Amino acid sequence: MLRQLLVVGNWKMHGSRASVGALLADLVAAVPAVGPDVAICPTFVHLEQALQICDASPLAVGAQDCSHTNAGAYTGEVAAAMLADLGCHWVILGHSERRQYHGESDELVAAKVAAAVTAGLCPIVCVGETQEQREAGEAHSVVRSQLRGALQGQAQLTGLVVAYEPVWAIGTGLTATPQQAQDMHAFIRDCMSELDGVDATASRIVYGGSVKAGNAADLFAGPDIDGALVGGAALVANAFLAIINAAAA
Ligand code: 13P
Repeated sequence: MLRQLLVVGNWKMHGSRASVGALLADLVAAVPAVGPDVAICPTFVHLEQALQICDASPLAVGAQDCSHTNAGAYTGEVAAAMLADLGCHWVILGHSERRQYHGESDELVAAKVAAAVTAGLCPIVCVGETQEQREAGEAHSVVRSQLRGALQGQAQLTGLVVAYEPVWAIGTGLTATPQQAQDMHAFIRDCMSELDGVDATASRIVYGGSVKAGNAADLFAGPDIDGALVGGAALVANAFLAIINAAAA
């Protein structure tokens, strides 16, 4: 089964109109026409600008979150249908920073996945254990339970991407070794194959956590590592392009 690699930039809470314009101009000019699927996920307020600049380029645009519900009295929320209406293709859901700082539960992530799929967005569902959980030997059980919590019982999960992001590797400079990542990705694929509505063979599983030019190629060599969800390095055009080129090689 040949899965097209996917490289996604999660810009988190960074950027201004000026920096978004400059970074995207550099990316649009240099992103290879033949290579991995590439997407960038800026903040909500920069989505429309990003969509305009990326129009007719190979760069797709996604959001970093969406509401679990369609419309209504939910101050501060953004519905999946609004993102789809704007032209977004992807939405990151269940990122560990949202679980940690906004108390997102597996149940809430599941409701967001359902809302995203209903709206026609492709969800990138994040899972991953903390340092303490890994040291306690709980990494696999934590990841399995996050996957089941988010994906079990969903009607149709076309275009689903799972991102394995060990929390201890996010923004720390520590990366899972290619072997650690491959082992967990294979385990995730096994878990996905037990879930109705999930095509485990066709679905992409991307790795996130201090991915950079120097480690991307080794990670992409893993047969179950189908790309990367990139934080810090996605904010620097040359660094992100080097990761894209590693996936194109
Ligand atoms: P870093 O690449 O900065 O470690 O962030 C990873 C991440 O959280 C992407 O979603």
